[in-house]
Amino acid sequence: MKIACIGAGYVGGPTMAMIAHKCEGVEVTVLDINEERIAAWNSDKLPIYEPGLEEVVSAARGKTLFFSTECEKHVAEADIVFISVNTPTKTRGVGAGYAADMTYWESAARMIARVSHSPKIIVEKSTVPVKTAQAVERVLSNNVLNPGARFDILSNPEFLAEGTAIKDLEKPDRVIIGGRQTPSGLKAIDTLKKVYAQWIPEDQILTSNLWSSELAKLAANAFLAQRISSINAVSALCEKTGADVSEISKCIGADSRIGPKFLNASVGFGGSCFQKDILNMVYICRGLGLEEVANYWESVITINNYQKRRFVDVVISSLFNTVRAKRIAILGFAFKKDTGDTRETPAIDVCNGLLEEGAKLAVYDPQVTEERMKMDLSMDKFEWDHPYSERKAKEVNDLIECSESVYKACEGAHALCVLTEWDEFKELDLRRIYDSMVKPAFIFDGRSVIDGKAAKKIGFVFFGVGKPLDPFLTDPASPNSPANSARMSMSP
Ligand code: UDX
Ligand code: ADP
Repeated sequence: MKIACIGAGYVGGPTMAMIAHKCEGVEVTVLDINEERIAAWNSDKLPIYEPGLEEVVSAARGKTLFFSTECEKHVAEADIVFISVNTPTKTRGVGAGYAADMTYWESAARMIARVSHSPKIIVEKSTVPVKTAQAVERVLSNNVLNPGARFDILSNPEFLAEGTAIKDLEKPDRVIIGGRQTPSGLKAIDTLKKVYAQWIPEDQILTSNLWSSELAKLAANAFLAQRISSINAVSALCEKTGADVSEISKCIGADSRIGPKFLNASVGFGGSCFQKDILNMVYICRGLGLEEVANYWESVITINNYQKRRFVDVVISSLFNTVRAKRIAILGFAFKKDTGDTRETPAIDVCNGLLEEGAKLAVYDPQVTEERMKMDLSMDKFEWDHPYSERKAKEVNDLIECSESVYKACEGAHALCVLTEWDEFKELDLRRIYDSMVKPAFIFDGRSVIDGKAAKKIGFVFFGVGKPLDPFLTDPASPNSPANSARMSMSP
C-alpha cells in the first residue's frame, strides 16, 4: 500500500514517521513544497525538535519512509493521501482574526484532483473547520480529469501534543476516523482502521460520521484550553487571597470527575492549535447564529490574554513602575518545554509588553534560535493580541540579547522571568544567579518551576503565578504594589 502525506510539518512529519515505523507492507512518502524542509527531513538535522523523533525517522527512512518535493508524482501513485497542510487564522478579508485560512487546503485538493487516475482515500489529518470534508469532496468531484479517479474522504484528526509527539503517536488515548456512512465510506474507514490496528488496540480506534470527527478535534482543543483558562482565572484569585493555586489544582484534580491533568496555572497557553481552533469555533458559531456559544468559547481566549497582560503588569509594577533600560532575563521562549516551536508562545506577548516599556531583554532558550526569536518579536501581530506593540526589527535588535546560558542572561539583570517550563530551570544554582544580579533581585515565575521558598531565603523577591504574594509586593502603602497597579491597569 502506498501512502502519501501532503505537508511535512509538525503533524505530517512525525505522524507519517510512526506509520512507516510501525506498519508492515506500506511505503510512506511525506511531501512538501518547501524544499528546505524536505532537505532537512532527509538530513541528520531534522526540521523540528521532538524527543525520540530522530530514532523513529532513522529507523524507517530510506526503507519505508521517504521525504520528497515531487508532490504530484507521489500523490498520483498513492492509495491513501493524508492532507496535513497548515490552516492558519485568516489575517485579512472576511472572517479575519477568526476563520481558518483554507488556501493551502484547497490548493492541495485541486492538485489531487488534477493528478489522480485511480481510486484514493483522502484523509484530513490537520485540524480543519467542521464541514471541510464537504468542500474537499466538491473541489475533487468538480475537477477530476481522469475517469479512473474516485475519492472517499475521511477525517482522522491528530491529537498529538508537541514535545510528547512520539509517545502520543505510539500510545494514543484514542484514534478517531470519521467517514461517510455509505458502503464505500465504511470500506474506506475500515482500510484506514487496519493501518492503525497494526499497533493500536482496536477498541481505541473510534469510528464516527465525518462531522463528529471534525468537530471532536475542535471541541477537544477547546476543552483543554478552557481548563487552562479556568485554572489561570483561579490563579489571579489566589494571588489576591493568599491561596496557593498548586494546592487548589491538587485538591480539585483528586476529584475523579475532574482528573489531575492540565491544571497547571501558567503565564498563558500558547501553541499553534488552541487559540486558532477556538477562534475558528467562535467564527463557526457566529456564522450559525449561536452568539452565546461563541461568546462562551471566546472568553477562554480573553482570560488567556488577560493572564499574559497581568504577568507583564506585575513585572513592571514590582520593578518600581519602570523597566526602562533595565536588563530583564527571559528564561524560555518556546510555547512549552521540549519543543523549539514558538507559535503563539506567551513569551512573544510578555517580551513585547516589556519591550514596549523600554526594557532590555536577555533571552535564553535551549531550542529556539536567535533568528526565530527576533523574527517573532519583529512581526506585527493581530491587534487584539498585541494592543500596544508594533516592534520594528531594528529596535528588537538593539533591545534583545540572545544569551548562551541562563547564567549569562541573568548577569547584571534586575529580574528574571520564567516563561517556559524547561527541566533545566528546575535545577538552577539560584545563589550564583542572585549574586550576579542587581538588587533587589526579582524572580517572576510564570511556570511554577522555581522553588519560591528557597529563592526567598537567598534574598530574591519572588512572584509565582497563583502563589501568595511576597510581602515585598503586598505592602498596601506602596504605590508600587502589584496589587495596586494591576488594579489600576484593569480599570476601564
Ligand atoms: C495541543 C493538544 O494538547 C493536542 O492534543 C492537539 O493535537 C494540539 O494542541 P500542544 O499545543 O502541542 O497540543 O501542547 P499542549 O501540551 O496541549 O500545551 C498547549 C499550551 O498549554 C502550552 O503553552 C502549555 O504550556 C500550556 N499548558 C498546558 C498550561 O499552561 N497548563 C497546563 O496545565 C497544560
Ligand atoms: P502543522 O503544525 O499543522 O503540521 P506546519 O506549518 O508545521 O503545520 O506544516 C504544514 C506544511 O504544509 C508546511 O511545511 C507547508 O510548506 C506545507 N504545505 C502547505 N501547502 C502545501 C501544498 N499545497 N503542497 C505541499 N505542501 C504544502
